[in-house]
Amino acid sequence: MPKLAELNALDGAEFTRLVGPVFEHSPWIAARTAAQRPFASRDSLQAALIATVAKASDEEKLALIRAHPDLIGDAHLTAASRAEQASAGLQDVHADEAAQFREYNRQYRERFGFPFVICARLNKKEAIAQAFPVRLRNSRQQEMETALQEISKIAELRLQDLVHE
Ligand code: GUN
Repeated sequence: MPKLAELNALDGAEFTRLVGPVFEHSPWIAARTAAQRPFASRDSLQAALIATVAKASDEEKLALIRAHPDLIGDAHLTAASRAEQASAGLQDVHADEAAQFREYNRQYRERFGFPFVICARLNKKEAIAQAFPVRLRNSRQQEMETALQEISKIAELRLQDLVHE
């Protein structure tokens, strides 16, 4: 695991290669944040990454949300996503649970036009199953904001795994 000081010293491309995967399939966030180095703490790096997301256009924010796989979906998963889904207990579910998740995923995508994002490492499958029908009642604007907040939590945990202070 690199130290923060090492990340601070890398060239921009290497920094992006290492920090990019903190956001699912979205290395542009690390790339746009690289020039603000050096960071004094991991928290300040995290805050700068989230500020980059906040400054992005609505289309870019939507693309970031859409880069996430469905929970119990058919997409090929990155190593980080596979571990996150497993930590929620989603790797071994009964056929009826899987069918329920797939139906919620379908309804959610149909209503909002992007996938349901919840930080799988902070929620067990039962909590996720309860969140789906509640969030399905929200507005699209509320759900975009919630998805971005969940992505921030996902990124924070990935960054803790990635870098020592
Ligand atoms: N899709 C919904 N939740 C998650 C999550 O926690 N991680 C990833 N990678 N994708 C998700």
